Amino acid sequence: MNKDVFGLDIGATTMKLVWLKHGKGGYVLNAAMIAPTPPKGILSESPLDEEEMARAIKKIKDDAGVSIKRVNVALAENQVYTSVVEMPYLSDRELSSAIYWEAEQHIPVPLSSISLTWNVLNRPDKKDATSKMQILMVGAPTLLINKYQKIFSMADLTIAAMETEILSTVRSLTSGPDADKLPPTLIISIGAVSTSIAIVREGVMVFAYSMQVGGAAINRAIAADFGLTSAQAEEYKKAYGISGAALGLKIGQATQPILMSIIQEVKKSIAFYTQKYNDGAPIRQIFLSGGTAKLSGIELFIANNTGIEAVIANPWRVLGSQEVPKEILDNGSDYTIAVGLAMRDE
Ligand SMILES: Nc1ncnc2c1ncn2[C@@H]1O[C@H](COP(=O)(O)OP(=O)(O)OP(=O)(O)O)[C@@H](O)[C@H]1O
Ligand SMILES: [Mg+2]
Repeated sequence: MNKDVFGLDIGATTMKLVWLKHGKGGYVLNAAMIAPTPPKGILSESPLDEEEMARAIKKIKDDAGVSIKRVNVALAENQVYTSVVEMPYLSDRELSSAIYWEAEQHIPVPLSSISLTWNVLNRPDKKDATSKMQILMVGAPTLLINKYQKIFSMADLTIAAMETEILSTVRSLTSGPDADKLPPTLIISIGAVSTSIAIVREGVMVFAYSMQVGGAAINRAIAADFGLTSAQAEEYKKAYGISGAALGLKIGQATQPILMSIIQEVKKSIAFYTQKYNDGAPIRQIFLSGGTAKLSGIELFIANNTGIEAVIANPWRVLGSQEVPKEILDNGSDYTIAVGLAMRDE
């Protein structure tokens, strides 16, 4: 059965679309496509930019052959206020009022200017007084939500659900019937301008963090070191990566400070986890996602600097057996968020 909703991830540089249907041994891929994001992005106030954005959305949808109008979209972590909070066992009803008290502690702007949503990540047994509920709390500025609504309705689409990128990422990379058997996993998602880190334990996201660094900063570092334009730096980066001989080695040196700033946050996240869950189930693997996961040599760099095995994320694991074009398979890490959005029901 075709799902009546597709996923669209609008990044700083590229838009990723995924449409799935339900199949026997997993999902079946209906459509997948990548297209450039208009340079002004979705946040511009100018009516011309808004029209351009709406046109680009309509185009990727039409080009991908999507015949439905309902879409799930992701908000970048830096546009919203997110925290994972712990509370004692509460029913949904109790939670829906208690959460506002929590939000006031965690969200630095007046609650009247945001729309608050939450997901119960983990709800322990009611009788277990010692375990706590983990709740992902998201405050999205009302202005931002209105902006998305406006652009998508200009594109003749209806937003079915909005969530933060990290939730979509965690869904496509770790959810499923065996989710609780997955070893503790750290996910690093590196896009063009932002990087998110999440830790998933027994199928539950227990930590999330995001920072403003990514492939664009890597380009700037290469451009400055080699005296190149940003476009040339992008070519160099893709051609040589950050390891190996000659140029790769030099690019590795130029980009070291950027990559180390990510490593530092990863290490802090691991330290947080280790302190909180010192029960002998340490983080055993790192999944690398986002366009920058394709930077040649980055897995090894991350593994060497953390001592934890690092692999490139593959959201297509959710598909049953199906022939998928190599181009789409090989760029799996680009589609992580869009796959998670496309999987979301309700
Ligand atoms: N082969 C490659 N090697 C290195 N970097 C790459 C490669 N392919 C793409 N990238 C980088 O990936 C980045 C784009 O990734 P992605 O599409 O995930 O970002 P985005 O979603 O547009 O941005 P953001 O998530 O930060 O808003 C760019 O900086 C690009 O240079
Ligand atoms: Mg992105």
